[in-house]
Amino acid sequence: MNILLTGAAGQLGQELLPLLVQLGKVTVVDRNVISTLSPDCLKLDLSDLNQVEILLNRLHPDLVVNAAAYTAVDQAENDSETAFRMNADLPGCMARWAERNGRFLFHFSTDYVFDGQASQPYTEAHETGPINIYGESKLAGEWAITASKCRFIVLRTSWVYSTHGSNFVLSMLRLARERPELSVVSDQTGCPTWARNLAGVSRKVIGQLLKYKTNAKNDGLYHYCDGTITTWYEFARSIFSVASGLGLLDEIPRMLPLQSSQYPQIAVRPGFSVLDTSAIRETFGVEAVGLNESLTACLQEIEDE
Ligand SMILES: NC(=O)c1ccc[n+]([C@@H]2O[C@H](COP(=O)([O-])OP(=O)(O)OC[C@H]3O[C@@H](n4cnc5c(N)ncnc54)[C@H](OP(=O)(O)O)[C@@H]3O)[C@@H](O)[C@H]2O)c1
Repeated sequence: MNILLTGAAGQLGQELLPLLVQLGKVTVVDRNVISTLSPDCLKLDLSDLNQVEILLNRLHPDLVVNAAAYTAVDQAENDSETAFRMNADLPGCMARWAERNGRFLFHFSTDYVFDGQASQPYTEAHETGPINIYGESKLAGEWAITASKCRFIVLRTSWVYSTHGSNFVLSMLRLARERPELSVVSDQTGCPTWARNLAGVSRKVIGQLLKYKTNAKNDGLYHYCDGTITTWYEFARSIFSVASGLGLLDEIPRMLPLQSSQYPQIAVRPGFSVLDTSAIRETFGVEAVGLNESLTACLQEIEDE
């Protein structure tokens, strides 16, 4: 099987690659050629949709796994054109190609498609209502895929972290080493998700879809996030506690809870973005992993590096 993996150098892409090679020949694409990732790494600006079409026609992958995205939530507010091209037009282009060629598209979306006003975890059926450009652009990507009638999975996830890239865990570790006191937002609630777990879940779902190749009944939209509901403030406390236990931090900074209104960001964030993962559990037998276990494993790797 030929697989095309985009965004291979990103948080999720780097975790997906070693799992996808178990399934077939993987060609990876990113903005820069990263030969350490794979000898089959191609350089491509994915916002150039003509080039994307040319590549798809040349490689003719059985499966396109799109882990590339415009993920700079604040930057998107002033750069909506690029955000929409990457998060909406690109998956739309891939989906229409997959439809024409009878191929499968595996794509990722976000908890930020919701307005954050709910008090119970969001199911896939819950009405969307993004409150920032990033969320709008990701939702437009979902719509472009569903409009195409190709075979697809869209996996919404939340609060992704990993050992590399730009994420909350690495930012908190850095800040804790620089400052004796930290204020962290305590009125936004969600589920942190280790990119490794998300990649494992994706691999499991893809494996099952391939096994029942002709059966499209399980295609569609799913939610996966790890199993612990928390706030950024409590998440930071967990990071410091685990990091200190592993010897990654000499001292835990004093922490102060902060309201979102006291920490104005360019893009407004949803107050509550917990995803209900029952559908993926019932359909594919996926169990959500807890925060402490995942955080410990992730930070252990950082310590080993
Ligand atoms: N991160 C989160 O907290 C979060 C939460 C919910 C959902 N998600 C979704 O999960 C998926 C994976 O996210 P992630 O955290 O792994 O993102 P990431 O670390 O930002 O990785 C995205 C990748 O896409 C690449 N990319 C962006 N623009 C490109 C372009 N024009 N041409 C070629 N490559 C380009 C990036 O390259 P550069 O580094 O060179 O830009 C990067 O390698 C995305 O669909 C995202 O929307 C993420």
